[in-house]
Amino acid sequence: MCGIVGVLGDHEAAPILVEALKRLEYRGYDSAGIATVNHGKLDRRRAVGKLVNLGDLLVHDPLPGKAGIGHTRWATHGEPSVSNAHPHQAGPVAVVHNGIIENFRDLRAELAEHGILPQTETDTETVALLTQHYLDQGASPVDAAFQALDRLEGAFALAFLFDGEEDLIVAARKGSPLAIGHGEGEMYVGSDAIALGPLTDRITYLEEGDRAVLTRTSLEIRDAQGELANREIRTVQIQSTQIDKAGHKHFMAKEIAEQPLVIGDALGHYLPAGQDTVQLPGKGIDFTKIERVTMVACGTAYYACLTAKYWFEQLARIPVEVDIASEFRYREPPVSPGTLAVFVSQSGETADTLAALRYCEGKADKIVSVVNVPESSIARESDLALPIHAGVEVGVASTKAFTCQLVVLVLLALKAAADKGQIDQETLADHISAVRGLPSLLNAALDQNEAIRQAAIKLSEARDVLFLGRGPMYPMALEGALKLKEISYIHAEGYASGELKHGPIALIDKNMPVIVMAPRDAVFDKTVSNMQEVMARKGQVLLISDDDGLAEAQDGVWSTIRMPHVHPTLAPILYAIPAQLLAYHTAVAKGTDVDQPRNLAKSVTVE
Ligand code: F6R
Repeated sequence: MCGIVGVLGDHEAAPILVEALKRLEYRGYDSAGIATVNHGKLDRRRAVGKLVNLGDLLVHDPLPGKAGIGHTRWATHGEPSVSNAHPHQAGPVAVVHNGIIENFRDLRAELAEHGILPQTETDTETVALLTQHYLDQGASPVDAAFQALDRLEGAFALAFLFDGEEDLIVAARKGSPLAIGHGEGEMYVGSDAIALGPLTDRITYLEEGDRAVLTRTSLEIRDAQGELANREIRTVQIQSTQIDKAGHKHFMAKEIAEQPLVIGDALGHYLPAGQDTVQLPGKGIDFTKIERVTMVACGTAYYACLTAKYWFEQLARIPVEVDIASEFRYREPPVSPGTLAVFVSQSGETADTLAALRYCEGKADKIVSVVNVPESSIARESDLALPIHAGVEVGVASTKAFTCQLVVLVLLALKAAADKGQIDQETLADHISAVRGLPSLLNAALDQNEAIRQAAIKLSEARDVLFLGRGPMYPMALEGALKLKEISYIHAEGYASGELKHGPIALIDKNMPVIVMAPRDAVFDKTVSNMQEVMARKGQVLLISDDDGLAEAQDGVWSTIRMPHVHPTLAPILYAIPAQLLAYHTAVAKGTDVDQPRNLAKSVTVE
């Protein structure tokens, strides 16, 4: 939610800031803005909407200066408008912020007593006003920023820029990530290393509560206790910060297409060559002591957890509870000894998932995270982080991260089953061999692209769509519906097919496309009965199944998508592909913004 950048450079800051913001636009695109100091004078430019609007503004009204900060916004407090756009300026200080200042109303009331009144609807402006207040009382820029920081409650990554100070940025993090980039006689700040990718590969990650004072040649960090802190400079892999569409029209299309490749890569990290075992990083997990698993996540990652519940329970016979992160903590669920707590998050920064993880600290036996960003807060705060190796995911709708999460989770379930003696070596080897075959099956599923595109043309005319699945295909129905609604804005619901006649069947008529995801598995016949109930009421069925399934059940359906045969355990991973492609092509047919759908942001760092 919101991306921030800063630069103390040797060149004009504006183009550098805009380029870095482009790489953070996945975090929000309601407005964008930059501020610089030029010949001692602080000034700013801001525009509503995507970054391209700020770029246009800068062409007509350039902003010179070699020191600057920038922001791309996902609105929390106040509508997207120029006045609510960051940077927020109060006299001689400008501030960019990612997060939420929870006590901003109290602070506003206090400032009002000094005659200092807000001009915007945002929480962030309060930080600028507070800093100005301390400057007015004679504090130095650094002290004024630090005094303001002392007063803030909530979550923030902040960068401050001051009038008259061309070699100073103050930065701070609490709850929201922040990276410092080291250049040659230049220094940078960014919400993540990707933003700074073209500038430097030498990164210092601020830790919780850290405050940093940057000049072009120095970086001083103080920890939450105010002590000088020595934080490592890491060299990040440049390719992990490279983002391009590789010839595809959208990042989402590229990310769907590269799933065989990234899953192959992920498998290489967990399956030692020539052995039928699952190898976890670090000290791994001893499942013999684990009695139950609690899994917590949001959105698509939550559906990965729902799928994994089937795997852990069926393969390892371990009971699993799955929770939406935003509900988990406030329910105050008992977490008893013997619990393995698993948190799944692409970004590793989702505020609710992180809060749920912290709730489990000291209660669960072990805290494991399944993450795409190894440096993320969720990864760093868990006992064991299991990277999914999906590579940077830019499209706001999660695709390759989802299937990579599933791959890591199925391997974890197999490891649990083996540790607990619930499957013999032969069954384990059979499953592992099937997992190794996933990349080529995924390629075969991707070959159905044109058939899926044709079906999507009809879907794009629908007002509502239902997805049905049974067993592990039920979470896939939920995921298919989520993908479709978030990028095409068509109302869609996922249902367990057996649940349909308990209410939703009332919706079925000749205008209702119903997508049935049903490999020819143990519950196929039951799903087909539910499908017949839909067709008897004139519902338009799109059946996604394999040769056997289609041969048995395709009579009377509106359309079909033919999937390769797959080991029943792994079907959800394969059937994610048509779900993603259906949403993608429907959105393209409707002309919506596939990579940056309205109202959304990729990294949800507010509750
Ligand atoms: C949907 C989607 C979201 C995320 C959710 C969790 O396509 O991307 O539902 O899955 O916001 O995000 P992470 O995985 O970063 O915690």
